[in-house]
Amino acid sequence: MAIMHHLLLVVVLLIASTLHAASSVTTNSAVDATSATAYDILEQNNLPRGLLPLGVKSYVLRQGAIEVTLPGLCDFNVTLAGQQYIIRYDPTVGGLIRPGSLTQVYGARIQLAFDFLAFDQVDRVGDQISLHGGDNKFFKNKSFPVSNFAQSHKCNK
Ligand SMILES: *[C@@H]1O[C@H](CO)[C@@H](O)[C@H](O)[C@H]1NC(C)=O
Ligand SMILES: *[C@@H]1O[C@H](CO)[C@@H](O)[C@H](O)[C@H]1NC(C)=O
Repeated sequence: MAIMHHLLLVVVLLIASTLHAASSVTTNSAVDATSATAYDILEQNNLPRGLLPLGVKSYVLRQGAIEVTLPGLCDFNVTLAGQQYIIRYDPTVGGLIRPGSLTQVYGARIQLAFDFLAFDQVDRVGDQISLHGGDNKFFKNKSFPVSNFAQSHKCNK
């Protein structure tokens, strides 16, 4: 009886792992299709699509390095506690993408007080998105609820 139980368990486990393998193959082939957008790449890495504005022209993803081409310089507003912050991207913006973070970011700034200050890292921790100013003495980090980036924003110009 005990042997029968063990056999049954083995069979069930085999079926389960076969099904699992089959489903991950399906997922991969859906993902590597050229139809994945830059917004999809963000979401696959647990980052909100709204980190990129509407109108992305193209992107290149190579060994975790993503580079996105926008139609031009892009400003968009993010509101936090009633205050508007402008995020500004160069026509070419990129960095290294990993689950929950972008590092070595280039082409990205945020307006704080009166200056546009570069940020070089974006982290997601829980429901917060933090932008990090890297070496900047005046700007360590700024956090926004992830919901601020749930949808892509239109560029102001
Ligand atoms: C964006 O925010 C700035 C203030 O930081 C404001 O002057 C501007 O009108 C806002 N633009 C839009 C489209 O809301
Ligand atoms: C954000 O900056 C503050 C100082 O302004 C610092 O105390 C805090 O540790 C920083 N948080 C992260 C996640 O880097």
